[in-house]
Amino acid sequence: MPKIEQATKIKPYNQHRREGNSVVLRYFIWTIGCQMNKAESQQIAGYLDSVGHQAATSFSNADLVILNTCVVRQSAENKVLGTLGLLKGLKNKHPNLQILVTGCLVDSDTQELKRRFPHVDLLFKPGDYPELIAWGQKQGIPIEQRLLSYARNDTRGAPSPCALIPIIQGCDNFCSYCIVPYRRGREVSRPPGEIVCEVEELVGRGIKEVTLLGQNVDSYGHDLPGHPDLADLLNELNSIDDIARIRFLTSHPKDISLKLIDTVASLNKVCEHLELPVQAGDDDILRAMRRGYTVERYRELVHTIRRKIPQLSLSTDIIVGFPGETEEQFEHSLSLLKEMRFDVVHVAAYSPRPGTIAWREYQDNIPSEVKRERLHKIEELQTSIVSEINSQLQGRQVEVLVEGRKKGKWFGRTRSNKLVFFEDAGDWVAQLAKIQIEKTSPWSLRGEVKKIIN
Ligand code: SAH
Ligand code: SF4
Ligand code: F3S
Repeated sequence: MPKIEQATKIKPYNQHRREGNSVVLRYFIWTIGCQMNKAESQQIAGYLDSVGHQAATSFSNADLVILNTCVVRQSAENKVLGTLGLLKGLKNKHPNLQILVTGCLVDSDTQELKRRFPHVDLLFKPGDYPELIAWGQKQGIPIEQRLLSYARNDTRGAPSPCALIPIIQGCDNFCSYCIVPYRRGREVSRPPGEIVCEVEELVGRGIKEVTLLGQNVDSYGHDLPGHPDLADLLNELNSIDDIARIRFLTSHPKDISLKLIDTVASLNKVCEHLELPVQAGDDDILRAMRRGYTVERYRELVHTIRRKIPQLSLSTDIIVGFPGETEEQFEHSLSLLKEMRFDVVHVAAYSPRPGTIAWREYQDNIPSEVKRERLHKIEELQTSIVSEINSQLQGRQVEVLVEGRKKGKWFGRTRSNKLVFFEDAGDWVAQLAKIQIEKTSPWSLRGEVKKIIN
C-alpha cells in the first residue's frame, strides 16, 4: 500500500506556477498491473511533460494524481480500493487536489463508479486520451497527445534504453476466468507504419530495445487492411539501424504461428525469449478455462519452438485453484512444469471476477488455504528448476543491455531476459556489455564486465 505523507506541502493547483495563461502542475502517477498499464502511464507522463508539467515524487507533493488501475484479481482490485480510500482523506484536506482514475477498474458504467467514488474528478477508460484532454481543456490544464511513448528509468531519472510499445489493444479470446476483454474491449491493432515511425523516433533519442505489447500479440494485424502480421512487423523493425533488441509479449499458444517462430529464429535483433502462458497442465481444466488447446498441443508447440530456437528462454503463467481443480489435476500442472523447465513461472490463485464466464458458471469451491498451498508448491518447484537453469550460466559470457543503477550496481538484462548486476566505475547506461557470470541465483545473476559490444 502506498504511503501518503503528511500533506501540509500541498497547495491548490491553481496557486502554482503559471506560464502565460497555462497552469503548470506537479503530477504523480500510481500504476499497478501489466506492462500495458506501465506503457500507458509512461505515455500519459509524456503528454504531461511535453507541456511543462512536472513529475512529483509522491501523492503528497502532487496537485494532480492519476491512478492507473488493475482488477485482474481481487487482490489487485483491493489495492486500488485501498488507495482510493487514502486519497479520499487527502482530497478532504485539499479539495483542489485533482484525482483521475484510468486502467481496468474503469468499466462502461462510469456513472456508478462516480457515485461510489465522488472524490474522483475524472474516470477515463484505458487509452481514452481524448477524454483526458477534453477534461484538461475544461479545467484550463493543457495536456498534449503525442505519438511517442516515453521511456523512463525509475531509479535515477536518466533515460532508460528500453521502451514499451503497445501494438494491439484489447482481447477477443474470452478465457472463462478473465476480466480483461470486458475492460479493454475487442482487439484493435495500430498500423505498422505508425509503429515503425514511433520506433525510429525513439531510436533517434537513444532507445536500444523495444518491447511490443498486446494481450495477445499473435493476433496483431488481423483487423488491418492487407492483414499484416507480427512476423511482418518484426521484419520491418529489425531493419531499423541502431536498434539492438526487439521483444514482444504476450503470445497465445493457440494463435502463435510457425511463420512467427521462423521469423524469431531468423532475425538477429529479435530476442530468444517468449511469454507463452499455459495456465494449467490438465486438459479438463484447460477446456473449462476455454483456452483452445490441449496439454499435448502445448507440449508439441514448445518442442517445435525449442528445435527452431535452441537458445530460447520461456516464461509462462499458471492459475491454481480453478473451480473444481482436483489434487490430481493440480499434480498435472506440477508435472508439466517439471517437464517443460520454464525460465519464469508467474503463478496466481484463481480469483472469481464478476461478469466472467467462470464466475457465472462455476462455484469458486477450492478453499483459500488449498489455493495458497498449491501456489507455494509451484513456487518452490520453480525456484529449484530456475536455480539449476541459471547455475548453468556460471562462468559463461552473456550480452547485457545496461538499463541503469540500483543500490550501487549496474543492472541490465540478457537477450534471454535474465537480470544481471555488475560493479564498475564507468558509465554503462544504455551500453551493450559483455559480462562474465560469476554468481547465480534463481532471481538474478552477478558478473564482471569484460568489454563493450558495439
Ligand atoms: N493475455 C495473457 C494474460 C493476461 S492476464 C494470456 O493470455 O495469458 C495476466 C495473467 O493473470 C493471466 O495469464 C492469468 O494467469 C492471470 N489471471 C487472469 N485472470 C485471473 C483470475 N481470474 N484469477 C487468477 N489469475 C488470473
Ligand atoms: Fe485474458 Fe485470455 Fe485474453 Fe489473455 S487471452 S487477456 S487470459 S481473455
Ligand atoms: Fe490488469 Fe488490465 Fe493489465 S486487468 S493485467 S491492467 S489488462
